[in-house]
Amino acid sequence: MDKVQLGPQPYMSVMPALLVGANVKGKPNYMTAAWATVACMAPPMVCVAVNHARHTAKGIEENGTFSLNVPSAKQIVETDYCGITTGARADKSKVFESFYGKLETAPMAAGCPVNIECRVFKAVDCGSHTLYIGEVAEVYADRDCAKDGKPDISKIDPLVYSQSAYWQIGKQAGKAFSAGMAYKKK
Ligand SMILES: Cc1cc2nc3c(=O)[nH]c(=O)nc-3n(C[C@H](O)[C@H](O)[C@H](O)COP(=O)(O)O)c2cc1C
Repeated sequence: MDKVQLGPQPYMSVMPALLVGANVKGKPNYMTAAWATVACMAPPMVCVAVNHARHTAKGIEENGTFSLNVPSAKQIVETDYCGITTGARADKSKVFESFYGKLETAPMAAGCPVNIECRVFKAVDCGSHTLYIGEVAEVYADRDCAKDGKPDISKIDPLVYSQSAYWQIGKQAGKAFSAGMAYKKK
């Protein structure tokens, strides 16, 4: 074993590049977020860590709703722009065309292949960031990016964030819940 200690850092090595949508004073705002994941299966929940200073945080607090939008690699410029520009100083409401769903106050980016509409279940103040856990009200997917009732990663072509860069998904390495069947006890 040859390990180096990298120190306590919150880096998962592999993270999704998403857009958090929230209405701030009635206007859609989109913020890039990589610190996001699934929180619960039943009821379905996702979560995202949002720094207190973000304009987006104001909108989530104001409405108790937000969206997670999955951009495709071809939206890299818009995605990164939303991560280097604050809605406090620039109007980001036209970067994506917005639509609203069941909750009526969580703007979703129509151009992103998958949109997850959430109502805040819990907001956990962790320090610099608040972890917003959202109960999923609905998932919207472009028709050609859905297969058997689920988002189809090969069609979505999502962005992965790691080491200050965006990456694209490579080839499938194997089937989950079955590759392990080949394990031979030592
Ligand atoms: C790739 C990338 C990932 C980011 N991930 C997060 C994140 O998970 N949480 C967060 O609070 N800020 C994150 N940021 C920073 C915000 O997106 C950035 O500060 C943005 O300008 C905030 O916009 P707002 O002030 O309009 O909300 C990320 C930025 C980039 C470029």
